[in-house]
Amino acid sequence: MGTPITKAVIPAAGLGTRFLPATKAMPKEMLPVVDKPAIQYVVEEAVAAGLHDVLMITGRNKNSLENHFDRMTELEDLLARKGDLTKLAKVNESTDLADMHYVRQGDPLGLGHAILRAKMHVGRAPFAVLLGDDIIDARDPLLGKMLHEQDKRNASIVALMEVDPSQIHMYGAAAIEETDDPDVVRVTGLVEKPSAADAPSNLAIIGRYVLRPEVFDVLEHTKPGKGNEIQLTDALQEMAITPEETGGVYGVIFRGRRYDTGDRLDYIKAIIQLAVDRDDLGPDLRPWLRDFAGRMS
Ligand code: UTP
Repeated sequence: MGTPITKAVIPAAGLGTRFLPATKAMPKEMLPVVDKPAIQYVVEEAVAAGLHDVLMITGRNKNSLENHFDRMTELEDLLARKGDLTKLAKVNESTDLADMHYVRQGDPLGLGHAILRAKMHVGRAPFAVLLGDDIIDARDPLLGKMLHEQDKRNASIVALMEVDPSQIHMYGAAAIEETDDPDVVRVTGLVEKPSAADAPSNLAIIGRYVLRPEVFDVLEHTKPGKGNEIQLTDALQEMAITPEETGGVYGVIFRGRRYDTGDRLDYIKAIIQLAVDRDDLGPDLRPWLRDFAGRMS
């Protein structure tokens, strides 16, 4: 067994154009999902998997992201004076979560470019990447299995999810070979945002990765690809076909609940799905939803 991985990199420097105008002056990762910003779910997931050292890649309008994970003494003092310990605990939840670090991307030249900004902080050890707008339901764990497979195979690991062929053009798609584990595949090739006809499978890469540090060496020479952005998928494609030098790529297939909060429809679904199961909101929301759905049909 290798040294346990402790570092998580969370890219949150994208422009969030699918969510304009909400994201004009605010990062999409700060959009609330029920009563927490999306980014807090992501940091909580990293910490739950033992990744206490979190490097966030930020860009324009970064202040709210940093402030959310910092002390807010004025508010804390006010709530303490009022004796409102429940709300005080909510304020402190995100402050005490992880050992947070930040680096700015400058120009948002793509996810691969954002990851390369983590090189100095990460050093020469494997690390996890969690996209800041992608929520994996905490009831359907994924990252633990990916960390385990990284340790076992000494490869880079991507998370894959079966999507409808009509949706594959929004993702990176994987060509794969089966292994003796039905939840793990060897990735033999990757294509960023292919048309349904060109996609090697309907297995899409979703926003979790556990990467070997060789990814930085590859990203140094990765040329801009789809959308003229430096794509992480293109770097992983090179790693998939150079296993001797880079360790190769495996995929863990995720069959649970996942919400792309950067997509407006998925964002709405995320709020509803997470709220209906909450003890404080579910009992009132469920009958209202049933009634509402009944009135629509
Ligand atoms: P997306 O493609 O979802 O982000 O990137 P985007 O470019 O902000 O989206 P739209 O299409 O304009 O709405 C996935 C993740 O990678 C980060 C984003 O913040 C998001 O968490 N990212 C993307 C960066 O950090 N830097 C980039 O240059 C691009």
